[in-house]
Amino acid sequence: MATDLKALVRSIPDYPKPGIIFRDITSLIEDSAGFSESCERLAAAHRGLGITKVAGIEARGFIFGAGVAIALGVGFVPVRKAGKLPGETIGQNYALEYGVDTIEIHADAVDENDNVLLIDDLIATGGTAIAAVSLLRRTRARVEHTGFVIDLPDIGGAEKLRAHGVRVEALMTFEGH
Ligand code: PRP
Ligand code: MG
Repeated sequence: MATDLKALVRSIPDYPKPGIIFRDITSLIEDSAGFSESCERLAAAHRGLGITKVAGIEARGFIFGAGVAIALGVGFVPVRKAGKLPGETIGQNYALEYGVDTIEIHADAVDENDNVLLIDDLIATGGTAIAAVSLLRRTRARVEHTGFVIDLPDIGGAEKLRAHGVRVEALMTFEGH
């Protein structure tokens, strides 16, 4: 268990626009050890905490969240973009760079007996994760732990998320924007 996970993340300059370096996790998950160790390390950071469910944010958070849920031996809750879930839902708006998006969960996906670990691939502004924490908490579930493969600390999202009373674990950081 000593794979250099950071070396497996591909950096693509000028995507999606000039001046942005895109941190691409497809190269990490295409690597067998890279993918399994990413999930296992996120799970290991959260063993013994009484986690009852892992929630992952569509789309890239599904990939790691599912693996972490299996590793922890708990169920998985998909936090989906609006309009995809068939049952009764609750939703939360969040700001994008341009405009607003909405995430949803099934209203009965978690409840006050749950202790939820939120997983996503990356935290940048924190807007997506903060919306997901707020949404999950509306069910009265405990949401005190979050895990990311990548943190971009210079953008400051992890600090904002911590201000909402959650612990933030990340497997690696990339400096700059
Ligand atoms: C990306 C990434 C995180 C979010 C992080 O998802 O996967 O979910 O942005 O950004 P933030 O901290 O500034 O909110 P994106 O919405 O691009 O979609 P995807 O996961 O479906 O690819
Ligand atoms: Mg995403």
